[in-house]
Amino acid sequence: MNIRTINELTDIAGKYILLRDDFNVQIVDGKIMDTFRIEQSLPTIRRLQEMGARIAIVSHLGRPDGAPDSKFSLAPVAFALSELLGEPVPLISDCIGESVADARRNMENGDVVLLENVRFHGGEESNDSEFAAALAHGFNIYINDAFAVSHRAHASTVGVTKFLPAYAGELLASEIAELSHVMNNPTRPLMAIVSGAKLNTKIDVLESMVTKCDTVAVCGGIGTTFAIASGKYNFTDMLYKPEYKEIVLRIMAAAEKHGCKILLPIDKGVGPEWAASAPRTDKTLSNVLGSDVIMDEGPESIAQITNAIDESKTIIWNGTVGMAEWPPVWSAGTFAIAKHIASRTRAGKLESIIGGGDTVAALEATDTMNDITYVSTGGGAFLEFIEGRALPGIVALEN
Ligand code: 3PG
Repeated sequence: MNIRTINELTDIAGKYILLRDDFNVQIVDGKIMDTFRIEQSLPTIRRLQEMGARIAIVSHLGRPDGAPDSKFSLAPVAFALSELLGEPVPLISDCIGESVADARRNMENGDVVLLENVRFHGGEESNDSEFAAALAHGFNIYINDAFAVSHRAHASTVGVTKFLPAYAGELLASEIAELSHVMNNPTRPLMAIVSGAKLNTKIDVLESMVTKCDTVAVCGGIGTTFAIASGKYNFTDMLYKPEYKEIVLRIMAAAEKHGCKILLPIDKGVGPEWAASAPRTDKTLSNVLGSDVIMDEGPESIAQITNAIDESKTIIWNGTVGMAEWPPVWSAGTFAIAKHIASRTRAGKLESIIGGGDTVAALEATDTMNDITYVSTGGGAFLEFIEGRALPGIVALEN
Protein backbone atom coordinates (compact mmCIF):
# COMPACT_ATOMS: atom_id res chain seq x y z
CA MET A 1 0.00 0.00 0.00
CA ASN A 2 1.57 3.19 -1.17
CA ILE A 3 0.16 5.98 0.95
CA ARG A 4 1.41 9.42 1.86
CA THR A 5 2.30 9.69 5.54
CA ILE A 6 3.17 12.34 8.06
CA ASN A 7 6.86 11.38 7.53
CA GLU A 8 6.78 13.33 4.27
CA LEU A 9 5.82 16.56 6.01
CA THR A 10 8.50 19.15 6.71
CA ASP A 11 8.22 22.87 7.24
CA ILE A 12 4.74 22.91 8.66
CA ALA A 13 5.33 25.49 11.42
CA GLY A 14 2.38 27.88 11.46
CA LYS A 15 0.34 25.70 9.05
CA TYR A 16 -3.27 24.85 9.88
CA ILE A 17 -3.79 21.09 10.08
CA LEU A 18 -7.17 19.39 10.03
CA LEU A 19 -6.50 16.14 11.93
CA ARG A 20 -9.12 13.34 11.77
CA ASP A 21 -9.05 11.22 14.91
CA ASP A 22 -11.52 8.57 16.04
CA PHE A 23 -12.62 9.64 19.50
CA ASN A 24 -15.75 7.49 19.33
CA VAL A 25 -15.45 6.26 22.91
CA GLN A 26 -18.02 4.89 25.30
CA ILE A 27 -19.28 7.59 27.69
CA VAL A 28 -21.48 6.76 30.67
CA ASP A 29 -22.83 9.62 32.84
CA GLY A 30 -20.31 12.01 31.28
CA LYS A 31 -17.40 9.68 32.09
CA ILE A 32 -15.23 8.09 29.42
CA MET A 33 -15.10 4.36 30.05
CA ASP A 34 -11.91 3.73 28.11
CA THR A 35 -9.34 6.23 26.86
CA PHE A 36 -7.38 3.74 24.69
CA ARG A 37 -8.30 5.39 21.38
CA ILE A 38 -7.47 8.84 22.72
CA GLU A 39 -4.13 7.70 24.11
CA GLN A 40 -3.19 6.06 20.80
CA SER A 41 -3.80 9.38 19.02
CA LEU A 42 -1.31 11.28 21.16
CA PRO A 43 1.95 10.53 19.27
CA THR A 44 0.69 12.20 16.07
CA ILE A 45 -0.72 15.20 17.96
CA ARG A 46 2.54 15.68 19.89
CA ARG A 47 4.64 15.31 16.76
CA LEU A 48 2.60 17.97 14.94
CA GLN A 49 2.87 20.24 17.97
CA GLU A 50 6.65 19.82 18.03
CA MET A 51 6.73 20.79 14.36
CA GLY A 52 4.90 24.02 15.22
CA ALA A 53 1.66 23.22 13.42
CA ARG A 54 -1.75 24.58 14.51
CA ILE A 55 -4.01 21.57 14.95
CA ALA A 56 -7.80 21.30 14.77
CA ILE A 57 -9.01 17.79 15.50
CA VAL A 58 -12.20 16.55 13.88
CA SER A 59 -13.99 13.41 15.15
CA HIS A 60 -17.38 11.76 15.43
CA LEU A 61 -19.00 10.37 18.56
CA GLY A 62 -21.86 7.89 18.35
CA ARG A 63 -24.61 8.11 15.76
CA PRO A 64 -26.47 11.41 16.27
CA ASP A 65 -28.15 11.15 12.85
CA GLY A 66 -26.97 14.40 11.31
CA ALA A 67 -28.29 16.84 13.94
CA PRO A 68 -26.78 18.42 17.07
CA ASP A 69 -27.57 16.42 20.21
CA SER A 70 -25.86 17.24 23.51
CA LYS A 71 -25.79 13.52 24.38
CA PHE A 72 -23.18 13.13 21.67
CA SER A 73 -21.08 16.18 22.46
CA LEU A 74 -17.31 15.71 22.43
CA ALA A 75 -17.02 17.84 25.61
CA PRO A 76 -15.93 14.90 27.82
CA VAL A 77 -13.31 14.01 25.20
CA ALA A 78 -11.94 17.59 25.14
CA PHE A 79 -11.57 17.31 28.90
CA ALA A 80 -9.81 13.91 28.75
CA LEU A 81 -7.56 15.04 25.91
CA SER A 82 -6.55 18.16 27.87
CA GLU A 83 -5.57 15.96 30.80
CA LEU A 84 -3.62 13.50 28.66
CA LEU A 85 -1.80 16.20 26.70
CA GLY A 86 -1.20 18.25 29.83
CA GLU A 87 -2.56 21.47 28.32
CA PRO A 88 -5.99 22.93 27.59
CA VAL A 89 -7.74 21.68 24.45
CA PRO A 90 -10.77 23.92 23.89
CA LEU A 91 -13.91 22.44 22.33
CA ILE A 92 -15.09 24.54 19.39
CA SER A 93 -18.91 24.67 19.13
CA ASP A 94 -19.04 23.45 15.52
CA CYS A 95 -16.75 21.74 13.01
CA ILE A 96 -17.38 24.22 10.15
CA GLY A 97 -18.08 27.94 9.74
CA GLU A 98 -17.44 31.01 11.86
CA SER A 99 -16.60 29.29 15.14
CA VAL A 100 -13.80 27.35 13.44
CA ALA A 101 -12.52 30.46 11.64
CA ASP A 102 -12.48 32.32 14.97
CA ALA A 103 -10.60 29.49 16.65
CA ARG A 104 -8.03 29.50 13.87
CA ARG A 105 -7.48 33.25 14.23
CA ASN A 106 -6.66 32.77 17.93
CA MET A 107 -4.31 29.83 17.51
CA GLU A 108 -0.55 29.96 17.93
CA ASN A 109 2.01 27.44 16.76
CA GLY A 110 1.57 24.12 18.63
CA ASP A 111 -1.99 24.88 19.76
CA VAL A 112 -4.62 22.13 19.64
CA VAL A 113 -8.41 22.55 19.49
CA LEU A 114 -11.15 19.93 19.20
CA LEU A 115 -14.05 20.57 16.83
CA GLU A 116 -17.56 19.48 17.90
CA ASN A 117 -18.97 16.17 16.62
CA VAL A 118 -18.76 16.05 12.82
CA ARG A 119 -21.86 13.81 12.69
CA PHE A 120 -23.98 16.75 13.87
CA HIS A 121 -24.07 17.49 10.12
CA GLY A 122 -25.89 15.16 7.70
CA GLY A 123 -23.26 15.92 5.05
CA GLU A 124 -20.68 13.92 7.00
CA GLU A 125 -22.17 10.45 6.51
CA SER A 126 -23.51 11.22 3.02
CA ASN A 127 -20.00 12.39 2.08
CA ASP A 128 -21.47 15.60 0.72
CA SER A 129 -18.95 17.50 -1.32
CA GLU A 130 -20.05 20.97 -0.15
CA PHE A 131 -19.79 19.86 3.45
CA ALA A 132 -16.33 18.38 2.81
CA ALA A 133 -15.26 21.70 1.26
CA ALA A 134 -16.58 23.56 4.34
CA LEU A 135 -14.58 21.23 6.61
CA ALA A 136 -11.42 21.81 4.58
CA HIS A 137 -11.93 25.57 4.37
CA GLY A 138 -9.09 27.57 5.91
CA PHE A 139 -6.80 24.56 6.47
CA ASN A 140 -3.55 23.80 4.66
CA ILE A 141 -3.15 20.07 5.25
CA TYR A 142 -5.38 17.12 6.19
CA ILE A 143 -4.08 14.20 8.25
CA ASN A 144 -6.10 11.05 8.83
CA ASP A 145 -5.16 9.20 12.02
CA ALA A 146 -8.59 7.61 12.49
CA PHE A 147 -8.02 3.99 11.49
CA ALA A 148 -11.15 2.92 13.41
CA VAL A 149 -13.45 4.85 11.05
CA SER A 150 -11.48 4.39 7.83
CA HIS A 151 -14.03 1.79 6.65
CA ARG A 152 -16.56 4.63 6.29
CA ALA A 153 -16.55 6.75 3.12
CA HIS A 154 -17.57 9.95 4.89
CA ALA A 155 -16.78 13.63 4.27
CA SER A 156 -14.16 13.76 7.03
CA THR A 157 -12.43 10.55 5.91
CA VAL A 158 -12.72 10.66 2.11
CA GLY A 159 -14.48 13.81 0.83
CA VAL A 160 -12.03 16.22 2.44
CA THR A 161 -9.07 14.64 0.60
CA LYS A 162 -10.38 16.21 -2.64
CA PHE A 163 -9.73 19.65 -1.17
CA LEU A 164 -6.52 19.31 0.86
CA PRO A 165 -3.19 17.50 0.51
CA ALA A 166 -3.82 14.38 2.60
CA TYR A 167 -1.52 12.21 4.72
CA ALA A 168 -1.76 9.30 7.18
CA GLY A 169 -0.84 9.98 10.80
CA GLU A 170 1.38 7.71 12.89
CA LEU A 171 -1.45 5.60 14.30
CA LEU A 172 -3.08 4.95 10.93
CA ALA A 173 0.29 4.10 9.38
CA SER A 174 1.16 1.69 12.20
CA GLU A 175 -2.25 -0.05 12.07
CA ILE A 176 -1.76 -0.62 8.34
CA ALA A 177 1.81 -1.90 8.81
CA GLU A 178 1.03 -4.23 11.75
CA LEU A 179 -2.18 -5.69 10.35
CA SER A 180 -0.75 -6.09 6.83
CA HIS A 181 2.21 -7.95 8.27
CA VAL A 182 0.06 -10.47 10.13
CA MET A 183 -2.31 -10.98 7.20
CA ASN A 184 0.29 -11.19 4.44
CA ASN A 185 3.16 -12.83 6.20
CA PRO A 186 2.04 -14.57 9.42
CA THR A 187 4.28 -16.93 11.32
CA ARG A 188 2.35 -20.22 11.15
CA PRO A 189 0.41 -21.98 12.53
CA LEU A 190 -2.05 -19.08 12.42
CA MET A 191 -5.14 -19.25 14.62
CA ALA A 192 -8.15 -16.94 14.87
CA ILE A 193 -10.72 -16.71 17.64
CA VAL A 194 -13.93 -15.26 16.24
CA SER A 195 -16.71 -14.61 18.71
CA GLY A 196 -19.79 -12.48 19.15
CA ALA A 197 -23.48 -12.75 19.77
CA LYS A 198 -24.86 -12.81 16.24
CA LEU A 199 -23.55 -14.75 13.27
CA ASN A 200 -24.67 -12.11 10.74
CA THR A 201 -22.09 -9.62 12.11
CA LYS A 202 -19.16 -11.99 11.52
CA ILE A 203 -19.99 -13.95 8.36
CA ASP A 204 -17.49 -12.08 6.17
CA VAL A 205 -14.64 -12.35 8.64
CA LEU A 206 -15.30 -16.06 9.17
CA GLU A 207 -15.39 -16.69 5.43
CA SER A 208 -12.08 -14.93 5.08
CA MET A 209 -10.40 -16.45 8.16
CA VAL A 210 -11.11 -20.06 7.14
CA THR A 211 -9.21 -19.48 3.90
CA LYS A 212 -6.18 -18.00 5.67
CA CYS A 213 -5.87 -19.65 9.09
CA ASP A 214 -4.80 -23.09 10.19
CA THR A 215 -7.34 -23.08 13.04
CA VAL A 216 -10.45 -20.98 13.73
CA ALA A 217 -12.20 -21.18 17.11
CA VAL A 218 -15.84 -20.14 16.81
CA CYS A 219 -17.17 -18.97 20.17
CA GLY A 220 -19.93 -17.08 21.98
CA GLY A 221 -23.39 -16.95 20.41
CA ILE A 222 -21.81 -17.63 17.03
CA GLY A 223 -20.23 -20.83 18.32
CA THR A 224 -23.63 -21.89 19.70
CA THR A 225 -25.16 -21.16 16.28
CA PHE A 226 -22.53 -23.37 14.61
CA ALA A 227 -23.24 -26.15 17.11
CA ILE A 228 -27.02 -25.98 16.58
CA ALA A 229 -26.58 -25.87 12.78
CA SER A 230 -24.55 -29.10 13.00
CA GLY A 231 -27.84 -30.83 13.86
CA LYS A 232 -26.24 -32.82 16.70
CA TYR A 233 -28.08 -31.19 19.60
CA ASN A 234 -31.66 -30.99 20.80
CA PHE A 235 -31.70 -27.39 22.05
CA THR A 236 -31.96 -24.14 20.17
CA ASP A 237 -31.50 -20.57 21.40
CA MET A 238 -32.91 -17.15 20.64
CA LEU A 239 -29.91 -16.03 18.57
CA TYR A 240 -30.29 -18.93 16.16
CA LYS A 241 -32.18 -18.48 12.90
CA PRO A 242 -33.00 -21.35 10.51
CA GLU A 243 -31.40 -19.49 7.59
CA TYR A 244 -28.05 -19.63 9.43
CA LYS A 245 -27.75 -23.35 8.76
CA GLU A 246 -26.82 -22.91 5.13
CA ILE A 247 -24.27 -20.19 5.96
CA VAL A 248 -22.64 -22.34 8.64
CA LEU A 249 -22.42 -25.34 6.31
CA ARG A 250 -20.90 -23.13 3.60
CA ILE A 251 -18.23 -21.83 6.02
CA MET A 252 -17.50 -25.35 7.28
CA ALA A 253 -17.10 -26.60 3.70
CA ALA A 254 -14.74 -23.71 2.85
CA ALA A 255 -12.70 -24.51 5.98
CA GLU A 256 -12.36 -28.11 4.93
CA LYS A 257 -11.33 -27.17 1.42
CA HIS A 258 -8.59 -24.87 2.74
CA GLY A 259 -7.35 -27.28 5.40
CA CYS A 260 -8.53 -25.07 8.27
CA LYS A 261 -9.59 -26.80 11.48
CA ILE A 262 -12.72 -25.32 13.06
CA LEU A 263 -13.03 -25.59 16.84
CA LEU A 264 -16.64 -25.75 17.99
CA PRO A 265 -17.70 -25.34 21.63
CA ILE A 266 -17.80 -28.43 23.84
CA ASP A 267 -19.50 -27.01 26.92
CA LYS A 268 -21.08 -23.74 28.01
CA GLY A 269 -21.67 -21.81 31.24
CA VAL A 270 -25.43 -21.48 31.64
CA GLY A 271 -27.85 -19.87 34.10
CA PRO A 272 -31.61 -19.79 34.68
CA GLU A 273 -31.95 -16.15 33.60
CA TRP A 274 -30.10 -13.37 31.77
CA ALA A 275 -28.52 -11.67 34.80
CA ALA A 276 -25.05 -10.98 36.20
CA SER A 277 -26.14 -12.50 39.50
CA ALA A 278 -27.54 -15.72 37.97
CA PRO A 279 -26.00 -18.90 39.45
CA ARG A 280 -23.71 -20.69 36.97
CA THR A 281 -23.69 -24.32 35.88
CA ASP A 282 -21.31 -25.70 33.26
CA LYS A 283 -23.00 -28.12 30.87
CA THR A 284 -21.73 -30.06 27.88
CA LEU A 285 -23.72 -29.07 24.83
CA SER A 286 -25.68 -32.32 24.77
CA ASN A 287 -27.05 -31.46 28.24
CA VAL A 288 -28.04 -27.86 27.47
CA LEU A 289 -31.82 -27.32 27.59
CA GLY A 290 -33.88 -24.81 25.65
CA SER A 291 -34.64 -23.05 28.97
CA ASP A 292 -30.94 -22.52 29.79
CA VAL A 293 -29.47 -19.07 29.17
CA ILE A 294 -25.95 -19.43 27.75
CA MET A 295 -23.61 -16.72 29.07
CA ASP A 296 -20.06 -18.09 28.77
CA GLU A 297 -17.90 -20.83 27.29
CA GLY A 298 -17.43 -23.78 29.63
CA PRO A 299 -14.06 -24.99 31.00
CA GLU A 300 -13.69 -27.76 28.41
CA SER A 301 -14.26 -25.34 25.53
CA ILE A 302 -11.67 -23.02 27.06
CA ALA A 303 -9.14 -25.85 27.51
CA GLN A 304 -9.61 -26.79 23.85
CA ILE A 305 -8.87 -23.16 22.87
CA THR A 306 -5.85 -22.71 25.13
CA ASN A 307 -4.39 -26.02 23.86
CA ALA A 308 -4.81 -24.81 20.29
CA ILE A 309 -3.15 -21.50 21.23
CA ASP A 310 -0.17 -23.50 22.52
CA GLU A 311 0.18 -25.10 19.09
CA SER A 312 -0.04 -21.74 17.26
CA LYS A 313 2.60 -19.12 16.57
CA THR A 314 0.22 -16.29 15.67
CA ILE A 315 -3.25 -15.52 17.00
CA ILE A 316 -5.89 -13.04 15.86
CA TRP A 317 -8.70 -12.48 18.35
CA ASN A 318 -11.94 -10.54 17.94
CA GLY A 319 -14.94 -10.86 20.26
CA THR A 320 -15.35 -11.79 23.91
CA VAL A 321 -16.62 -15.34 24.40
CA GLY A 322 -19.24 -14.63 27.08
CA MET A 323 -20.65 -11.83 29.22
CA ALA A 324 -17.18 -10.46 30.03
CA GLU A 325 -18.75 -7.31 31.44
CA TRP A 326 -20.25 -9.45 34.24
CA PRO A 327 -17.21 -10.53 36.27
CA PRO A 328 -16.21 -12.73 37.91
CA VAL A 329 -18.76 -15.45 37.11
CA TRP A 330 -19.53 -14.78 33.43
CA SER A 331 -16.17 -13.29 32.41
CA ALA A 332 -14.28 -16.50 33.29
CA GLY A 333 -13.90 -17.78 29.71
CA THR A 334 -12.90 -14.47 28.17
CA PHE A 335 -10.46 -13.63 30.94
CA ALA A 336 -8.85 -17.11 30.80
CA ILE A 337 -8.22 -16.67 27.06
CA ALA A 338 -6.82 -13.13 27.55
CA LYS A 339 -4.43 -14.32 30.26
CA HIS A 340 -3.32 -17.33 28.27
CA ILE A 341 -2.60 -15.30 25.13
CA ALA A 342 -0.74 -12.73 27.26
CA SER A 343 1.45 -15.32 28.96
CA ARG A 344 2.36 -17.10 25.68
CA THR A 345 3.16 -13.75 24.08
CA ARG A 346 5.25 -12.66 27.07
CA ALA A 347 7.17 -15.94 26.84
CA GLY A 348 8.02 -15.14 23.21
CA LYS A 349 6.05 -18.13 21.89
CA LEU A 350 3.18 -16.26 20.25
CA GLU A 351 2.49 -13.18 18.16
CA SER A 352 -0.91 -11.81 19.21
CA ILE A 353 -3.14 -9.37 17.34
CA ILE A 354 -6.32 -8.26 19.05
CA GLY A 355 -9.05 -5.85 17.95
CA GLY A 356 -12.59 -4.81 18.85
CA GLY A 357 -13.83 -2.64 21.72
CA ASP A 358 -15.17 -5.41 23.97
CA THR A 359 -12.07 -7.57 23.47
CA VAL A 360 -9.75 -4.66 24.24
CA ALA A 361 -11.83 -3.92 27.37
CA ALA A 362 -11.20 -7.54 28.46
CA LEU A 363 -7.45 -6.97 28.07
CA GLU A 364 -7.73 -3.90 30.25
CA ALA A 365 -9.78 -5.75 32.85
CA THR A 366 -7.14 -8.49 33.04
CA ASP A 367 -4.22 -6.04 32.93
CA THR A 368 -2.79 -7.78 29.88
CA MET A 369 -2.76 -4.90 27.35
CA ASN A 370 0.99 -4.44 27.50
CA ASP A 371 1.74 -8.11 26.85
CA ILE A 372 -0.07 -8.26 23.51
CA THR A 373 1.99 -7.86 20.33
CA TYR A 374 -0.48 -5.46 18.70
CA VAL A 375 -3.81 -4.09 19.91
CA SER A 376 -5.82 -2.39 17.18
CA THR A 377 -8.01 0.66 17.82
CA GLY A 378 -10.45 -0.61 15.19
CA GLY A 379 -13.69 -2.54 15.63
CA GLY A 380 -15.50 -2.73 12.29
CA ALA A 381 -12.42 -1.35 10.52
CA PHE A 382 -10.23 -4.06 12.09
CA LEU A 383 -12.59 -6.77 10.84
CA GLU A 384 -12.80 -5.32 7.33
CA PHE A 385 -9.03 -4.90 7.14
CA ILE A 386 -8.30 -8.49 8.14
CA GLU A 387 -10.99 -9.65 5.69
CA GLY A 388 -8.74 -8.11 3.03
CA ARG A 389 -11.13 -5.34 1.99
CA ALA A 390 -9.93 -1.96 0.75
CA LEU A 391 -10.92 0.67 3.31
CA PRO A 392 -12.06 3.93 1.63
CA GLY A 393 -10.34 6.21 4.15
CA ILE A 394 -7.02 4.50 3.40
CA VAL A 395 -7.55 4.29 -0.36
CA ALA A 396 -8.10 8.09 -0.35
CA LEU A 397 -4.53 8.55 0.89
CA GLU A 398 -2.93 6.46 -1.82
CA ASN A 399 -0.40 8.10 -4.09
C1 3PG B 1 -16.18 2.41 15.56
O1 3PG B 1 -16.29 2.62 16.77
O2 3PG B 1 -16.18 1.25 15.09
C2 3PG B 1 -15.98 3.57 14.64
O3 3PG B 1 -15.83 4.75 15.35
C3 3PG B 1 -17.06 3.67 13.60
O4 3PG B 1 -18.29 4.00 14.16
P1 3PG B 1 -19.62 3.73 13.35
O5 3PG B 1 -19.82 2.25 13.30
O6 3PG B 1 -20.70 4.45 14.09
O7 3PG B 1 -19.43 4.29 11.95
